[in-house]
Amino acid sequence: MTSPRFLTAVSLIAVAFAAACQTAPTPQSEETTTAVDTVFNPAERGQELFTEYCQSCHGAEGRGNGPLAELLKIPPPDLTLITERANGVFPVDMLATYIDGRGGVESHGTRNMPVWGNIWTDTEGGADADQAVAEQISELIEFIRSIQEDIPDL
Ligand code: HEC
Repeated sequence: MTSPRFLTAVSLIAVAFAAACQTAPTPQSEETTTAVDTVFNPAERGQELFTEYCQSCHGAEGRGNGPLAELLKIPPPDLTLITERANGVFPVDMLATYIDGRGGVESHGTRNMPVWGNIWTDTEGGADADQAVAEQISELIEFIRSIQEDIPDL
């Protein structure tokens, strides 16, 4: 015969188990935390843009070995060595001007790289076009910054 004491013990365990289940974190709260952790990261956005517009020539990691590289008269430079070539200072303004390309004399001929300022102004359109172009360029620059090779000690 089952003793009343045994039944009480069983029901206490059941209650404890139910309580434990309720205090376990729900998947929903974990999702919320991840969303907060991955708030807008310019370098990550820049990497997406780079994959879309730049890797065909510069290669996925910016090393100058994209599938179109060998068809160009001027080989695309290795973008991971920009800081090294600029004597240790990452040249943000030079890059912004170069990627945009609208100001340079080389945009009228010798340049092999597309003039992104023109292309994106056309595709973005509208009054906010210049602002949108500037944003994309600064995101790309943050990605390029993130792939710079460490400079060896001299
Ligand atoms: C059609 C091939 C091609 C594509 C696509 C391309 N580039 Fe270039 N890029 C070049 C070539 C070639 C050069 C070397 C200079 C020249 O001929 O314009 C260059 C030069 C550069 C430079 C100058 C580097 C230095 O050290 O002086 C930067 C920065 C650059 N590209 C960034 C980009 C970014 C960012 C994108 C995408 C938005 C991109 N490129 C897309 C071909 C390309």
